[in-house]
Amino acid sequence: MNAKKKKGNKRFCSPFPVPRSPFLTLGIETSCDETSCSVLRGKDTILSNVVSSSLFRHKKFGGVVPEVASRHCMEQIQCVFEEALQEAKIKAKDLDLIAVTQGPGLIGSLLVGVAFAKALAYQLEIPLVGVNHMEAHLVANFFGHKEPKRFIGLLVSGGHTMLTFCEKGKIHILGETIDDAVGEAYDKVAKILGLSYPGGPILDKLAREGNPQAVRFTRPKLDKRFNFSFSGIKTAVLYQVRDPKTGKPNPQAPSVKDMAASFQHAVIGWLVEKALDAAEFKGVKDIVVGGGVSANSYLREKLTRDAAAQGIKAWFPPFVLSTDNGAMIARRGVELFKQGFRSSLTMTGNPALALGR
Ligand code: KG4
Ligand code: ZN
Repeated sequence: MNAKKKKGNKRFCSPFPVPRSPFLTLGIETSCDETSCSVLRGKDTILSNVVSSSLFRHKKFGGVVPEVASRHCMEQIQCVFEEALQEAKIKAKDLDLIAVTQGPGLIGSLLVGVAFAKALAYQLEIPLVGVNHMEAHLVANFFGHKEPKRFIGLLVSGGHTMLTFCEKGKIHILGETIDDAVGEAYDKVAKILGLSYPGGPILDKLAREGNPQAVRFTRPKLDKRFNFSFSGIKTAVLYQVRDPKTGKPNPQAPSVKDMAASFQHAVIGWLVEKALDAAEFKGVKDIVVGGGVSANSYLREKLTRDAAAQGIKAWFPPFVLSTDNGAMIARRGVELFKQGFRSSLTMTGNPALALGR
């Protein structure tokens, strides 16, 4: 058999070209209010990471409006993609793999990224991998680092709060919130206190100037050791600032700064305590934090300090990779690709996509 024929046969057996080196992956993220594309070389080198946020369009509504978010993704996806290629100094034909957020998230936004990714994979004849957005938040920690083999993953975002145990690339859920997500609680409490959206970064800043002991919140009673609940504390904040019977403002209510500090002290305390308990339970020496709330200054400070006291390392992603971005999707896509995962062109967005496969 001559060399030419052999090469042809190889290509015929596999629908995808054999990866070249350096391996270039396009990561596409459109799960909520951000539209992001990133070009990743190998597993660690981010050549570009372009993010277009629609946050300014949602502020006046006090939360993300799904229809507005998906429309923004539609408008932005092409130019964000082109900018990502330009910044990485590559052409679309140089790409080897496309990774896209398959879920969880808002269906309208997810469909924009998934449709774009499928069309591109078909046109370029390269493989496609659907990625779980929450798994990607965890791997955002590992750029340029050797990742631990076993670790506790604490996922804290606007839609999720979970404690996971990760081993040999597999993720197991230890516990999760039974009601609001922690980011959602931050956003709702900020609204109650008359602050803008998103409330997390605003409360975080105000909390630094307030008294964390001003209000003592009751810890929620939970049946399961690693579950969370944040809806009770939100109501407790409401009853501090308004009379529960009349709904009138409470003239004796603590200041906004004291409320922010007390709220933050309580919820972050619960997160840190449970994460450390989970690490002890599983006998692991690494806690990896992912999701928008991983940007929280008190969570970073307290978990790092308390974990170190027990010989545990707390991992936080760089600030730019804390919130939604294409680079983390690309990295998770490369990992899954190496494990042999491929998505077909019939793949579609899944708003309730579960962790693990
Ligand atoms: O992961 P993310 O960007 O989007 C989702 O997938 O939900 O997380 C957004 C959430 C919002 O609820 C926002 O208020 C919260 O992350 N957040 C923070 C901080 N920065 C963002 N919460 C507390 N402290 C912060 N510094
Ligand atoms: Zn997210």
